[in-house]
Amino acid sequence: MSKGQQTHVIGWGIGLPTQILTNETLESIVDTSSHWIQSRTGIEERRIVSNEESTYSLGLTAAKQALCQAGMLASDVEMIVVATSTGDYGFPAVANQIQYGIGADHAAAFDINTACTGFVSALSVADSLIRSGQHNNVLVVGAETMSRIVDWTDRSTCVLFGDGAGALLLQRSDKRGGILSSVQWSDGAGAPYLYVKNNSAVDPNGDTHIDRDNFIKMDGREVFKFAVRAMTEATIKTATLADISIPEIDVVVPHQANIRIIEAAARALAMPMDRFITNVDRYGNTSAASIPIALYEAIEDGRIQSGMKIILVAFGAGLSAGGIAIEWA
Ligand code: ACO
Repeated sequence: MSKGQQTHVIGWGIGLPTQILTNETLESIVDTSSHWIQSRTGIEERRIVSNEESTYSLGLTAAKQALCQAGMLASDVEMIVVATSTGDYGFPAVANQIQYGIGADHAAAFDINTACTGFVSALSVADSLIRSGQHNNVLVVGAETMSRIVDWTDRSTCVLFGDGAGALLLQRSDKRGGILSSVQWSDGAGAPYLYVKNNSAVDPNGDTHIDRDNFIKMDGREVFKFAVRAMTEATIKTATLADISIPEIDVVVPHQANIRIIEAAARALAMPMDRFITNVDRYGNTSAASIPIALYEAIEDGRIQSGMKIILVAFGAGLSAGGIAIEWA
């Protein structure tokens, strides 16, 4: 990598709905129990948008916080990449809405959809744009309102998901470290295991159900098996490409889908669970938003420190998977 072309994280932010939906409340919505949800997934509660909130509004909050944290003017942002599978409209992209919302007058913007792998895909593209010399300042956002596409009568899926957003502000720098490697792959043969026909099950401007056919359909057991394999493989491939051995990894920030998936991947990697950041208990699976929210919390509570070697790792619909290695600077 040539001098001056490393990608560094200089700002971070999150946007969360205020409404909390607990497992206990879910007991009155579907035939489930708090004990089942907690023991099978690790989830205790999740955030759910109100009619006043949207994928855009959560993403906007996260983006503004990342800018403020970095002390950067919106007019200095050159590109905005949003990872989402639950944009409020077919088009325009959420990224265009955020570009206008923050007043990034000189920025281009586009969305990426690789479902729960989305944030890793978006970071990888943003890193390439920076390292190629095309842009200096890129804002990457993961924002989702999964509650709008889950079937609230299907206990096997509705208990798993939540809404939220997270953002990272990236900047070109000649400091050492930053993003060291990225890996992604696709296994499209697994598409039938997890899909949504399109993402307009619920009107973003209200709660009118448009088409029940457009809710999430999932074969949980197949996705679970893929997830453990993919998280393990992606961690190994990403670390290897960055010349980091598994024992040298200080922190893994995994996609937050199910604590059992994270525990199984930790066992397969022979890594202690205390190296994994987890908050699935409080937010459930927020898809492309889960990694930046977990990363934000780990930075804010001091678990991520300068010089640490970090792996972000995700899997999702597609089926898809990927990882990013960062040396925190
Ligand atoms: N409450 C009570 N019982 C339930 C519930 C519920 N919410 N959901 C399912 N059950 C029942 C099932 O009906 C089944 O009953 P049966 O044995 O009488 O048929 C029993 O519990 C066991 O069901 P399993 O599916 O075997 O449960 P499992 O332990 O596999 O857990 C789960 C299911 C949590 C969905 C798990 O398979 C999983 O986490 N899979 C991965 C899902 C995932 O990560 N998806 C997100 C992908 S990321 C993206 O791109 C969106």
